[in-house]
Amino acid sequence: MLELMGDWERTDYCGKLGTNDLEREVVLMGWVQSHRDHGSVIFIDLRDREGLVQAVLNPENSEEVHKKGEAIRDEWVIAIKGKVTKRTPETINPNLQTGEIEVMASEVRILNTSKVIPFLIEDDINVDELLRMKYRYLDLRRPSMKNNIITRHKVAAATRDYLNNEGFLEVETPYLTRSTPEGARDFLVPSRLNPGEFYALPQSPQLLKQTLMISGLDRYYQVVRCFRDEDLRADRQPEFTQIDIEMTFINEDDIMNIVEGMLKAIFHEAKGIKVETPFKRMGHEEAMLKYGSDKPDTRFGLLLQDISHVFVDSEFKVFSGAIKNGGIIKALKVEGKAGELSRKEIDDFTDTAKTLGAKGLAWIRASEGEWQSPIVKFFSEEEKENLQKTLNLSDGDIVFFAADIPHTVNLVLSNLRLTLGERFGMIDHKKFNFLWVEDFPLFDFDHKEKRYVAMHHPFTSPNEEDMELLDEQHGKIRSRAYDVVLNGVEIGGGSIRIYRKDIQEKIFSAIGLSMEEAQDKFGFLLEALEFGAPPHGGIALGLDRIIMLIAGAPSIRDVIAFPKTQKGQCPLTEAPSEVDIKQLLELGIKLDIKDKDKNDS
Ligand code: AMO
Ligand code: AMP
Repeated sequence: MLELMGDWERTDYCGKLGTNDLEREVVLMGWVQSHRDHGSVIFIDLRDREGLVQAVLNPENSEEVHKKGEAIRDEWVIAIKGKVTKRTPETINPNLQTGEIEVMASEVRILNTSKVIPFLIEDDINVDELLRMKYRYLDLRRPSMKNNIITRHKVAAATRDYLNNEGFLEVETPYLTRSTPEGARDFLVPSRLNPGEFYALPQSPQLLKQTLMISGLDRYYQVVRCFRDEDLRADRQPEFTQIDIEMTFINEDDIMNIVEGMLKAIFHEAKGIKVETPFKRMGHEEAMLKYGSDKPDTRFGLLLQDISHVFVDSEFKVFSGAIKNGGIIKALKVEGKAGELSRKEIDDFTDTAKTLGAKGLAWIRASEGEWQSPIVKFFSEEEKENLQKTLNLSDGDIVFFAADIPHTVNLVLSNLRLTLGERFGMIDHKKFNFLWVEDFPLFDFDHKEKRYVAMHHPFTSPNEEDMELLDEQHGKIRSRAYDVVLNGVEIGGGSIRIYRKDIQEKIFSAIGLSMEEAQDKFGFLLEALEFGAPPHGGIALGLDRIIMLIAGAPSIRDVIAFPKTQKGQCPLTEAPSEVDIKQLLELGIKLDIKDKDKNDS
């Protein structure tokens, strides 16, 4: 039954045909989206990358064509020769791009058949993602997924066009390289030629792009894969793509201008979205205070308030105790919504807060001039008055409280803020709110390791005004780092770099890295800094996240052709996999895996 394409040449994409093509003789090739046998006439929706068109297999035109049509099934690959004709008014399909026309088939060739597909090739199907990933080639036939891949192409193309026009050079850096310190675990690759030694797949090209600035290349970019062995989430993959940028003789404003112009171009080219520039800017301190997050979603209000001052000497030990232990108390007030939240919902919020590390989640509901709450009975009159002054509660308001170390309080309440914003429809999903977050602290105190760590990475320049604090008050030093945030998602981050060896060494020492360790890990950079390193800085943007937001996809997995699961596996290729013992012997590697099942869980 199968036939060859033979001398047929495709003339058009199915989805591109329209009334301009009326009376044309066309040759189409594609997949059978659906076939409907109306007894006398068979209708086939033929699909290719650009969309669908209806073909009509009428025995009055050709007995043979109609006969073939009876055998044809969904997802078979066929070629159709025929004439483009106008549909009668009552058969026009306004939901279809090509809905005003159809193709009267005069000849059909069946090029291939298909097994019965495990899920329908259409949007809004309710199918386990693992199955979709196992049959990714079918999943990518679905319009939304195919469009995501097209959007991805447009974003990458717009990025390159924009940066090329701005005088940037695209330079490739190696994937087989040394460990770079972006804070995640490295993926290691054993070196057969150097037994016992490993390459690390780059977490980013950070050190090499800085080296390129020392080379004098002036403006570098790369659309580049980065590899990080970290816990995966909706917006995190073990391999992802960055738009990586580095520039010489510039300051923060120069980087921000370039990135704003680039994002404007990307959003316009990819989806015709108009992005307003310049973006708003917010200091890290304000972001943490009001949003409890360094990536605030500014599409809605619902701001946090620090109310620690009210409870410093309180009898309610949950609150005053938290402050004594270096903590804070913050409140999140929702105006007029108290009646809409059930007790069960509030309990669920509390459970979520606990999974994030909170000891509890207190609340007050204002109703008929009274406060209902499990904690108000512990407050003094003065505390109640002060609280009212601070929060200005009216009937119908509900307010949530968290008391703990700042990290936990902010984590819990920023999370609750997003939940409530969604719950009460406060978030306008059509909005694209871009924001620069700046003035980050240079260091973060790692309570587990009891030492300072670089908040961005250790090549970030301290703020010049804070330079004198470098010898003692590490916690107070601000950095010249900036993040770009879109709708509460961190889509990029970068900094002005250190270009002097003496300062770089000071930073390494502040994070507890001895000179020997620094030399061992980054010796080449330290040495390069001694050969006329120019002032420079840069940024990297998460390409997958940008596309996810443009496409309105729920996860970056939906905008990556072949992503990994939560467990870092690819259900299509079944990577990772065990390897041949011969391969291991060649590499001088002996496995010692005691508890494989445990690693799997
Ligand atoms: P950073 O580590 O902030 O900076 O990464 C830059 C951007 O990359 C995206 N991103 C990710 N996307 C998907 N999956 C991941 N696992 C993942 N990790 C990060 C985010 C993030 O904002 N070298 C520095 C940049 C610089 O200083 O120039 C760096 O890599 O959108
Ligand atoms: P308890 O005294 O532990 O029964 O707590 C009384 C109320 O305070 C409950 O509603 C708890 O959820 C809440 N709560 C307990 N610990 C905290 C905390 N650290 N921050 C905010 N609320 C808390």
